[in-house]
Amino acid sequence: MRIILLGAPGAGKGTHCKRIVEKCGLEHLSSGDILRKERAEGTELGKEAQSYMDSGQLVPDELIVKMMAKAIRNAPETGWVLDGFPRTVNQAQELDKALSSDGQSVDLILNLKIDDSVVMDRMTGRRSCPKCGAVYHIKNLKPRVEGECDKDGTELVQRPDDEPEVVKKRLDTYHEQTEPVVGFYKNGKKVYEFDASKSADEVSAKIFETLDALAKA
Ligand code: AP5
Repeated sequence: MRIILLGAPGAGKGTHCKRIVEKCGLEHLSSGDILRKERAEGTELGKEAQSYMDSGQLVPDELIVKMMAKAIRNAPETGWVLDGFPRTVNQAQELDKALSSDGQSVDLILNLKIDDSVVMDRMTGRRSCPKCGAVYHIKNLKPRVEGECDKDGTELVQRPDDEPEVVKKRLDTYHEQTEPVVGFYKNGKKVYEFDASKSADEVSAKIFETLDALAKA
């Protein structure tokens, strides 16, 4: 199965992608995580992406499309969930082209809907594991031991782009450049929408209800 998870920064894309891949045995392809890995490794791509990411802007399409096309090509045949890509209409068109040249297409689009006011609290309270990528929140999704990853005990960190001013810029960028991607997909495909302001478990339950119903259809 090939799934795209859309939504504003902080809507819960990473959180729900991790739950979907665990349950369905798919590959989680997060453009943000791949970029952060490139940065940590000091690659040319990572260096180029740094200033865009830290200021809440999008990394140029040509860099992202090439990076994600490679990740998709290397993914196992069981399928994948895209998280954070595509983020512009141009990226969505390029993804369509790349998939159709490999005889593939997207099966399902899930859109997490949320108000900007909820996002600010989520982002400033987010903590993540630099080792395994698990995501927590200091109030809503606490780790068992404060400040430590449940899975591997690594000290949790805060992302530099989760500062309030950068979050505001990321939301502006989302409304200007990424929201139109939802309209692009609604023109040709069924987009399933979820109220992402509910608790993470309620949102997951709705997502799995949809996935189960589609599997039975
Ligand atoms: P990226 O890493 O993709 O960031 P993002 O889209 O801004 O999304 P986030 O990872 O911040 O949020 P999320 O929706 O995954 O939420 P999460 O599950 O963590 O991109 C970073 C940067 O890279 C971009 O700004 C850009 O520069 C660049 N980039 C990436 N892709 C690109 C592309 N395609 N083109 C160009 N540039 C690109 O949840 C957030 C918090 O809320 C967590 O603490 C979580 O525990 C909590 N939470 C989640 N769900 C709930 C819930 N239901 N109730 C309560 N708390 C919840």
